[in-house]
Amino acid sequence: MSDRVPHNVEEAGYVFVDPAAYADEDYFHRACALLRRESPVHKVEGPGFNPFWAITKSADIFDIEARNQIFLNEPRPVLGTIEDDARRATNGDMLRTLIHVDDPEHRNLRGVTSEWFLPKNLAKLEGVLAGYAKRYVDKMVELGDSCDFARDVAMYMPLNVILSILGLPESDYGRMLKLTQELFGAADEDLQRGGEPTDIIAVIQDFFAYFTRLTEERRANPTDDMASVVANAKIDGEDLTLMQTISYYVITATAGHDTTASAMAGGLLALIEHPDQLRRLQSDPGLMNTAVDEMIRWVTPVKHFMRTATEDYVVRGTTIKAGDSVLLSYPSGNRDEDAFVDPFSFDVGRSPNKHLSFGFGVHYCLGAMLARMELKALFRELLPRLKSVELAGEPKWMKTIFVGGLKTLPIRYEVTPA
Ligand code: HEM
Repeated sequence: MSDRVPHNVEEAGYVFVDPAAYADEDYFHRACALLRRESPVHKVEGPGFNPFWAITKSADIFDIEARNQIFLNEPRPVLGTIEDDARRATNGDMLRTLIHVDDPEHRNLRGVTSEWFLPKNLAKLEGVLAGYAKRYVDKMVELGDSCDFARDVAMYMPLNVILSILGLPESDYGRMLKLTQELFGAADEDLQRGGEPTDIIAVIQDFFAYFTRLTEERRANPTDDMASVVANAKIDGEDLTLMQTISYYVITATAGHDTTASAMAGGLLALIEHPDQLRRLQSDPGLMNTAVDEMIRWVTPVKHFMRTATEDYVVRGTTIKAGDSVLLSYPSGNRDEDAFVDPFSFDVGRSPNKHLSFGFGVHYCLGAMLARMELKALFRELLPRLKSVELAGEPKWMKTIFVGGLKTLPIRYEVTPA
């Protein structure tokens, strides 16, 4: 627990550009609370980054996301350095995933898999998810009375789920895990490939090489996996370009697992730190739906997305000029006193829970339902078998400004064999 306090709104605004600030959650939330109170539409101008407006109130984030004709994902969907922005302006994005594009391209691309992610189709996965959940809780038993829950359980289950849905062979899962961590952990010395800005380009090139082969294979021999749906999709009668196809695989493989893993590990930590809520959920498993959403609100694995205004727009009396970018701070919106009763209390029965962890509007997380199902499967298996649990060391958070959460969660426990 850190007792660091931001001295003023200028200092508070720098949390959004500082990967280490996200790893100190107490400080981060103090900074956001100050901004919500004193400067909810706050201009951040710092060395190394092009300026942006930090939006910290829930209602404003919902409003901006709903206005997708005014606020576009292009050309700056996530915060990068001045060099990242310049590279994107000259070369275009190396990847053109769903989060990089706007309508009509976005609508067409999203249509390729939106049916696949419908509840009716996902319901078929219940058994698969329950199987993975059992496998990983059994693994905890095999490991004895302690493990690093973040690395031994949470990191693997969503990876296995998403890669099996895509249709990749299990022998490639390790390689995908490493590449995803290198992509999202580019600011963390334990996870990044190297310290140079160009290392991230090498990571993306590796994704490209792997998925180019996959596309060719699935076009030649389609199967019933999601990779085949994407490889053989048509928009206006045309195949997707190789860039679109590969980008689709990358967004699914990456968005689908570090996020969910962070929610799982952070969810368990919240239960450990709130033993009354753990007991409540164990004695009333009917609360699982609200509990899982509360874990996802509490953790908020995706820290921000950005939009760029195409015309002047006034938010709380401040004019966002055409061409200005806004950073939508989901963790701040999810602790907004005007949107939640007692936002800093972890309540497994919280209802309503209008959190922003999956975003809102046309880019609303495609995998939200799948993520919820995975968390429910894991905790449905774990909680009845969990006789005791406590921290066995200090949890550590990933240094990131985009996606992340706990990178280590050492626990001691008693889990009964199946
Ligand atoms: C707890 C886990 C997850 C969290 C917190 C999360 C969060 C998010 C957020 C915040 C967005 C952007 C929404 C916006 O701009 O309004 C997003 C988009 C997306 N997510 Fe997730 N996600 C999670 C799990 C998943 C899973 C399991 C998948 C599975 C494939 C997935 C696939 C996607 C895709 C494809 C997009 C882009 C959608 C678009 O731009 O149209 N996510 N997610």
